[in-house]
Amino acid sequence: MIDYSKIPSPAFVLEEKLLRQNLELIRGVQERAGVSIILALKGFAMWKVFPIVGNYLKGATASSLHEARLIFEEMGVRAHTYSPAYLPPEFEEIMRYSSHITFNSLAQYGRYKDLLAGASHKISPGLRVNPEYSEVEVDLYNPAAKGSRLGEAPDNLGDTLPEGIEGLHFHTLCESSSYELEKVLAAFEKHFGRFFSQLKWANFGGGHLMTRKGYDIEHLVGLLKAFREKYGLEVILEPGSAIAWETGDLVSTVLDITDNRGVKTAIVDVSFTAHMPDTLEMPYRPRILGATDAQPGKPAYRIGGVSCLAGDYMDSYSFDEELQIGNQLIFRDMIHYTMVKTTTFNGVKHPSICIWREDDTLEVVREFGYEDFKGRLS
Ligand SMILES: Cc1ncc(COP(=O)(O)O)c(C=O)c1O
Repeated sequence: MIDYSKIPSPAFVLEEKLLRQNLELIRGVQERAGVSIILALKGFAMWKVFPIVGNYLKGATASSLHEARLIFEEMGVRAHTYSPAYLPPEFEEIMRYSSHITFNSLAQYGRYKDLLAGASHKISPGLRVNPEYSEVEVDLYNPAAKGSRLGEAPDNLGDTLPEGIEGLHFHTLCESSSYELEKVLAAFEKHFGRFFSQLKWANFGGGHLMTRKGYDIEHLVGLLKAFREKYGLEVILEPGSAIAWETGDLVSTVLDITDNRGVKTAIVDVSFTAHMPDTLEMPYRPRILGATDAQPGKPAYRIGGVSCLAGDYMDSYSFDEELQIGNQLIFRDMIHYTMVKTTTFNGVKHPSICIWREDDTLEVVREFGYEDFKGRLS
């Protein structure tokens, strides 16, 4: 277990043991269901631990040239790449780093298919389709929302796929259960089943939160096996969150406590908007170690970010004791969709990136400074 007294502030700290536990569970699904599970870099791109990830999973999926290159260089495999649209000057380099390239539209495939045919290694082309079914309620995270730009709609396809397409890809889940997947699969089969006999693989996207407590792993394995056996296709899953789910924290320190007509705010050395943007975008309320939602009779504080954005705060939490300047505040489960989304808005200090190793030692992998801020601007 992490010894928080040793963690610098501010810092993201990943616990290696917990990452390995998640990966072991996911590898178990991969083996038992006979599918390929790859890491979605968009959710977790901490490349220092790619060698660990590579020991358990079959590879990774990229959303851009830079992610594809990172996979190639740091995991030593070619990426499964998908982007809503490819930038013409980047495409040949993307090909170099990719084993699979999925196109968001028939037009995108048409534009690049001749280049693919001339690649120096075999690249398997795929098409993203939109099954028009999702239980994700927030439109920001719902790729199947009305009018979505993500994937060809069923009506846009005729009776056969364009020559050369070897796989279909869909992604409509977010922190979902296997029962939601089951319903999406029914929609996928209904709308696109007529193409399955032409394919080599089907990619079920991400959003499979199999490492969350209570996820029905047996049901998932059954679903995947049944699909694979029925259609004889390679099945690929590309979760992001599930890999780094509950594997570490963001450690911060109270810098000041303000009081505005009885509303006390503990200002910390991290920022919700710059370091945990999903807490404001999704939004969701992060868990803080040792704190609860505000309760009568207990000291309560808003938690304020260190940027000057007025809304950079979380509504009150209660603590057993009055907070003091210098206290450590630990935001739980802050490894996925955090490091990949941070900014240096306001010039705020970027938290260090640390690993709490299995032998209970701390590795400070990266510290950030002025040059990181300056280097993104001109
Ligand atoms: C195409 C695609 N694949 C995979 C993922 C990873 O999803 P998650 O991190 O929810 O598992 C996403 C997330 O947005 C995605 O858009």
